[in-house]
Amino acid sequence: MIAQAKKLVYELLKNDNSGHGIEHIERVYDLAMKFAESEKCDKTIVALGVLLHDVDDYKIFGMQSQLNLTNTRTILDKIGASDQLKNKILDMVSKIGFSKCLKGNRPTTIEGMIVSDADMCDAIGANGILRANLFSYLHGENFFDKNIFPQKQLDPNEYTKKNKTTTVNHFFEKILRLKNLMMTKAGKEEALARHNLVVTFLRQFFEEEKAFDWIVYLDEYLKENGE
Ligand code: ADP
Ligand code: NI
Repeated sequence: MIAQAKKLVYELLKNDNSGHGIEHIERVYDLAMKFAESEKCDKTIVALGVLLHDVDDYKIFGMQSQLNLTNTRTILDKIGASDQLKNKILDMVSKIGFSKCLKGNRPTTIEGMIVSDADMCDAIGANGILRANLFSYLHGENFFDKNIFPQKQLDPNEYTKKNKTTTVNHFFEKILRLKNLMMTKAGKEEALARHNLVVTFLRQFFEEEKAFDWIVYLDEYLKENGE
């Protein structure tokens, strides 16, 4: 069933080059399986959750697809999932993602927590930096504008609209917050290491740009977030 789902998901995402593609799914799969080693959980649910967590993403398939979980349902039917399994996966994927988290919609099962942690970890660290850079490039966003500081509080209803930000501001608005959203012990450890790399990257970047007020901003931001 997993192999079959993998084939269908790869078919659906193979043309995506926005940072959600197959490479993202493969990295999240490996990370989730690693986190699953330290938890008592159903690995089949974790695997299917990873494979299906982006197949109805509003950024690729539109908000209607995200709300109805259209592709998730089709794939679950095609692989012959039982009603019970279907409901578990549908419930899980409806709770994965930063925009849903902003609205207070968080995973409630250990399998969902593992998938969420692994997915969020792929937005931090070296791949997180590369994915954010790619996203900005594709959306015509600037990497950095020293005159535009990040939003302190993100409005959950505004986040999914196509408001432009800069890559650097996206780091403050989302990526640096992810480590505090981890739900498993293994996820927390992984996220912290990746978070520290992003902080080091930003500090070095601001130094190279001679954007010294941004180093002060970064330090204050980290302090406010309990670091
Ligand atoms: P995920 O698939 O990990 O849930 P998202 O769907 O939210 O992540 O976004 C895909 C990737 O694009 C992530 O790495 C994210 O940090 C990045 N991204 C999303 N919005 C922006 C933005 N406005 N500027 C730069 N990068 C962004
Ligand atoms: Ni994802």
